[in-house]
Amino acid sequence: MFGIPWAGAIALLCGVATPQSTTDAACVSCHPTVAAEWSASQHRTAFTESTFQTAHRLEPRAFCRACHAPEQNPSTREITPASALGVSCRSCHLIDGEIVSGEGTVSADAPHSVRRDPDFGGLGCARCHQFDFPDSGLRAAPLAMQSTVDEHAASRHRGRSCAECHMPADAAGRASHSFAVTRDPEALRRSVRVRARRVDEGQVVLTLVAGEVGHAVPTGDLLRRLEVGAAPARRPEMATRRYLARHFGQVRQPTGIALLDELYDDRVPADGQPREVSLKLEAGRDETIVWWVRYQRVAHHRSLDPERALVDGELELASGRLLPL
Ligand code: HEC
Ligand code: HEC
Ligand code: HEC
Ligand code: HEC
Ligand code: HEC
Repeated sequence: MFGIPWAGAIALLCGVATPQSTTDAACVSCHPTVAAEWSASQHRTAFTESTFQTAHRLEPRAFCRACHAPEQNPSTREITPASALGVSCRSCHLIDGEIVSGEGTVSADAPHSVRRDPDFGGLGCARCHQFDFPDSGLRAAPLAMQSTVDEHAASRHRGRSCAECHMPADAAGRASHSFAVTRDPEALRRSVRVRARRVDEGQVVLTLVAGEVGHAVPTGDLLRRLEVGAAPARRPEMATRRYLARHFGQVRQPTGIALLDELYDDRVPADGQPREVSLKLEAGRDETIVWWVRYQRVAHHRSLDPERALVDGELELASGRLLPL
């Protein structure tokens, strides 16, 4: 836990000159509870964690570093004390030289000024969680790489800010900075409701509807997907699978260049409309069929064939059995 930036914090408290790495040291020393939550979050490890480092080695662009290591000059590729801060206190709270916060707690005794912005728990996330592909200038129209904010605007839960769901009150009643919802199996399971029916001997229809979630499922990075599958109960090797995600292929642009472009998006929509998935499999009338829906984190797509993706984590959201006809 005493990683490099913390060493910097100690240096600051001892009055040693402040390298860029210690930009958060003062915030951390006065806000220890928030800092402890943040230091266990994905924001803290946005640059150093292995999934990002693997992707970044394949595509080592300054564009990536501007969001994953906003405290470091984006021309530097290496892990430095500043990039190891990931998305820091200042990355979120310091806007135009002022500390900005939501309207939640209005503390009279802060030793620094706090500008209150009622939209901070939503718009404060937008500059990183909604953005276009860097080559959008070569396309007929810009293409979103992540569209969580647009999806949220179309969601049944648009009245709830991002922070309302992702920063619930901690034990002290303060907005939690551990951003743990997305790693909480129960919250992930509540994000989709699934119904399954057997249409005939070899056809199963699964209906997925978004639940307690404020955007499409999955949202965010392109390395997430839902695996929807079914198989005869005694012959799992005969499984049929589909992957719900944004699907890409080479498309010739008006400029004549072929680029990876979105072909279709079959994620579970945010607006509460059902996503129906029909799976055909070779099963007899006398066979029981098992079905499942899994949330998967992909380490690397490797190709356009979804079966070849390297999956580095998954969670079963729902599963069941359909009896013989
Ligand atoms: C010398 C101690 C000190 C330092 C340094 C400090 N803070 Fe604070 N800050 C406080 C205190 C005390 C409060 C008011 C009580 C509270 O909310 O914790 C406060 C309030 C806040 C709030 C408002 C909380 C609310 O009511 O919504 C935010 C946001 C905040 N600080 C962020 C920061 C950030 C970011 C930094 C670093 C750039 C920082 N603080 C540096 C002591 C400090
Ligand atoms: C990913 C963005 C993000 C990061 C990183 C972040 N904060 Fe926050 N913080 C927020 C948001 C958004 C709120 C307001 C939540 C709300 O309105 O419900 C907040 C609220 C706070 C509050 C008030 C909490 C309360 O409920 O009284 C303090 C204090 C604070 N932050 C300090 C910090 C410090 C210190 C760090 C670094 C250790 C930090 N924040 C890192 C986004 C962030
Ligand atoms: C300065 C840019 C920045 C801001 C501002 C920001 N984020 Fe993030 N956020 C990131 C990056 C980068 C990651 C990816 C971290 C990683 O590599 O795992 C991330 C990851 C996340 C995750 C995923 C956690 C997981 O389980 O993988 C959630 C949820 C999230 N952010 C929510 C928010 C919310 C809500 C806000 C606004 C209160 C916000 N973020 C503000 C950059 C930002
Ligand atoms: C009604 C509650 C709710 C609201 C509002 C909400 N989210 Fe989420 N979010 C969830 C749940 C539940 C998940 C987990 C299921 C999923 O991945 O879609 C999630 C997943 C995510 C993820 C994916 C992280 C990962 O790696 O799996 C990101 C990023 C994210 N949210 C960001 C945001 C941002 C940014 C906003 C505001 C524009 C927002 N969320 C609004 C509930 C919410
Ligand atoms: C405008 C900000 C932004 C830019 C630019 C950006 N990212 Fe991200 N990235 C994010 C956010 C926000 C998330 C979190 C969403 C989520 O968890 O689904 C994320 C998530 C990721 C993840 C998933 C991390 C995990 O733990 O699963 C990888 C890998 C990643 N980004 C790689 C890259 C690479 C490589 C580039 C450059 C080609 C890049 N990003 C450019 C904001 C950005």
